[in-house]
Amino acid sequence: MLLYVKHVLPETDPPARQIHMGAGCFIELVSIGMSQEGYQTKVAYLPQGDYTLKANEMTEKPVARITFVKTSNKNKDVLYDYIYQRGTNRKPYTGKMITQTEFESIKSLMGNYHSQLQFFTGKEQMRPYLNIFTTAMEIETRTKATNEETRNKFRFSEKELAEKRDGISLPQMGYEGFILKIATKQMNNGDSLTWHSEKTFKATMKGINKGIESSKGLIFFTTKTNTKLDWIKSGRDYARFNIAIAKLGIITHPYNQVIQEYSEMGNLKKKFRVLAKINDGEKTQMIVRVGRAKISYKSWRKDVNDYIME
Ligand SMILES: Cc1cc2nc3c(=O)[nH]c(=O)nc-3n(C[C@H](O)[C@H](O)[C@H](O)COP(=O)(O)O)c2cc1C
Repeated sequence: MLLYVKHVLPETDPPARQIHMGAGCFIELVSIGMSQEGYQTKVAYLPQGDYTLKANEMTEKPVARITFVKTSNKNKDVLYDYIYQRGTNRKPYTGKMITQTEFESIKSLMGNYHSQLQFFTGKEQMRPYLNIFTTAMEIETRTKATNEETRNKFRFSEKELAEKRDGISLPQMGYEGFILKIATKQMNNGDSLTWHSEKTFKATMKGINKGIESSKGLIFFTTKTNTKLDWIKSGRDYARFNIAIAKLGIITHPYNQVIQEYSEMGNLKKKFRVLAKINDGEKTQMIVRVGRAKISYKSWRKDVNDYIME
């Protein structure tokens, strides 16, 4: 099986780094799933060589060749049973801070991973980072091109979600009940003027800040270099992390704005790198908050046939 990346976000993810991480997530989920069926998953990364982002090159060369080898004994991955429980939860988090012991349990359940994981807990340790995440979100929302890209990926009704089964929506952002109804109305079905207005900016930031301020721990995934291989492998790490925390009853929500590569984020990204002691050449691939919260809306899943080209 050959795996290609297709859906790019040129404004928000100019190097197409995060979509390669998404491909890594896919590979890891396939691998965990196939372990239950009695197959070992073998992956050849970039089997036809590296490629640039130039028109067509990326869609013509595969990210990976995935093959399966039947194993005599069932080597079910320890994470298999929790695949369907995973999901991003963007609600405000409640209760106790995530402890160092819990972080160690997450790592131990993940088993092998490629990135280096940094963990922060407690209000004092997290404070400077939380401020950075708020500013980063403000920059992303105020930058017309990235904000417009988000509008194009936003789904404004349950009907649209059910049809497209992708993107982001108010229920996925943690809105529900009466508040969801009001917010949906205010969105005006994605009208451009409404979306880019000061009123929407303020309402969005209010919701986002509630989430940021309620963080009960932060985890950064950083790689020694920043190659496509690092992107794919740290994507695999993120998928394992996501399922491991589901097993432990912990939830997560990424805040990747500050590490994105568009120019408007440049200065804040430098500040983040200094604070987190990220050396030259290294790259933080993923930033998440962790905690505990009520169950959230589950994202739609695409039909597997939508991924198959021939
Ligand atoms: C590489 C990568 C980066 C992501 N960055 C963000 C982010 O910055 N903010 C966010 O809210 N979700 C982020 N997500 C989460 C996805 O939006 C989410 O996984 C997707 O909508 C599917 O929803 P689910 O996790 O609930 O299944 C990211 C996911 C991946 C794989």
